[in-house]
Amino acid sequence: MDDRDKPGHDDTVSGERYTSSQRLSPAGGVRINGVDLAQPLSPAVKEAIVEAFLAHHIVVFPKQLLTREQQFAFAVNFGEVEVHGAHRGASKRYDVAHVMSNLDVDGNPVVRISKAANYHWHTDKPYHRAPPLLTMLRAVEVPPTGGDTEFANTTLAYDALPEETKRRIASLRLVFRPAFDASRPAVDHPLVRTHPDTGRKALYLGNHSSHIAGVPEGESAALLDELLAHATQRQFVYVHRWRVGDLVMWDNRCLLHRVVVDAAMSQYRRVMHRSVVRGTVPF
Ligand SMILES: [Fe+2]
Repeated sequence: MDDRDKPGHDDTVSGERYTSSQRLSPAGGVRINGVDLAQPLSPAVKEAIVEAFLAHHIVVFPKQLLTREQQFAFAVNFGEVEVHGAHRGASKRYDVAHVMSNLDVDGNPVVRISKAANYHWHTDKPYHRAPPLLTMLRAVEVPPTGGDTEFANTTLAYDALPEETKRRIASLRLVFRPAFDASRPAVDHPLVRTHPDTGRKALYLGNHSSHIAGVPEGESAALLDELLAHATQRQFVYVHRWRVGDLVMWDNRCLLHRVVVDAAMSQYRRVMHRSVVRGTVPF
């Protein structure tokens, strides 16, 4: 193992890029220190961030103080920022970073477990023909402990599958429809998708999927359960413990994620600002 592959390794990158970076787990994640995302990025810093993103899938920038507009301006570096909440009508649509929280209408923390909740393993908006490339969250208010986000690396999970399973699933397509609105038209995507930037294969599954096209219902459900259980084993997972000011961006093309439900989520406010960058049609 190269030193660079060990969790906790520190390297100092040229001052023109950023101060230092630290790999966070064998499953992915890197922390980048010494860059102020409220300022426009130099071409060198932007390139270094894209490199880190493709190598580690999850990039953590601690201590970021950003307005929602500054977060939007940062997100634009990576592509077209999606308007969110279109299904909720014009009044709830946002074109800058929008607010996600565990608060009820009175501002009190509450846990709502629905089929659509982000407590289930999922990728963001897989029910779109061209699902998001990346999502970023900035922690505005977080519980003192708990409310972690877990990320499962579906490239590592794919690589670890038996060859026989790889052959069995190679050309299968998974049907997605939003768990919050069954009336929407379904879309289907390859169960094994190829990352457009790295060329690596990854499993693409999780919540909002209904069944594998052309496979009997029972067989489809059993295979999806088996693949999800495989992909979310601890060795493929990075757990992010939030601190106020963390901005975390992740690659939806090769990760599943979920929020951990724990006592903290019903006791403490958890408020995040979220931006989503449009991706391309999976292949
Ligand atoms: Fe999500």
